[in-house]
Amino acid sequence: MTKKILILKGSPREKGNSAVLADQLAEAARAAGAEVESIYLHSLDIRPCDGCDLCSGAGGACIIEDDMQPLYPKLAAADAIVLATPVYWFTYSAQLKLCIDRLYAFQSTHWAEFRGKKGAIVLTYGDDDIYASGGVNAIHTFETMFRFLKMENAGMVYGTASDIGDVQKQPELMEKAHKLGLKLAGA
Ligand SMILES: Cc1cc2nc3c(=O)[nH]c(=O)nc-3n(C[C@H](O)[C@H](O)[C@H](O)COP(=O)(O)O)c2cc1C
Repeated sequence: MTKKILILKGSPREKGNSAVLADQLAEAARAAGAEVESIYLHSLDIRPCDGCDLCSGAGGACIIEDDMQPLYPKLAAADAIVLATPVYWFTYSAQLKLCIDRLYAFQSTHWAEFRGKKGAIVLTYGDDDIYASGGVNAIHTFETMFRFLKMENAGMVYGTASDIGDVQKQPELMEKAHKLGLKLAGA
C-alpha cells in the first residue's frame, strides 16, 4: 500500500541544511512510490496553544482558527511523520515547537491517531559536537514524544552544518537521508 509521509520543516531557511536533507529523504521516498508532502512551517500562521483545554472531552477539537486546522487531518492520515529542524538555542526550532504543542488537540482520543505511525528525525546544528550543540536535547524530546504517542522511531539523520550548502558537501549525510526515505516508503 502507498505510504503517506508528512514532513514538517522547522527551519525558516527554505533551502537550508535541514530542508535539503528532508528534500533528499522525500525524493527517495517518492521514487520508491510513497506519497510525500512537505510543510514549510515558517510560512504558516500557527499560533501557540493557549491551554484552554476546550479540546478535552469526547469529540473535542482545537478551536484556534489558524493554519493548524488543515494540518490536523494531514497529521492524522500520515503513515510517517518526519520532524526536520535546525538546532536553535540547544533544542529544536520555535516554528516546530508551535506545531508540536498544538498536537495537544488530539487529547480527546488520547492521541490514538498517532499510535503505530512511524516517526523520523532530521536535525542539523552548527557545533561539531552533538552534546555541546544541544542536538541531544532535541533528539531526547522527539524520542520521548514518539514514546508517548506510541509511534515507532524509524530513524534519525543528524549532523554538523552551518552555512546553506554545507550538507550537500557531506555525501554520507545525504546518503543517510536517502536511505531513511526508502525505509519510510517501505522499500
Ligand atoms: C537563532 C539560531 C540559533 C542557533 N542555535 C544553535 C545552537 O544552540 N547550537 C548549534 O550547534 N547551532 C545553533 N545554530 C546553528 C544552526 O543550528 C545551524 O546553522 C543549522 O545547520 C541551521 O539549519 P538550517 O540551515 O536548516 O536552518 C543556531 C542558528 C541560529 C540562526
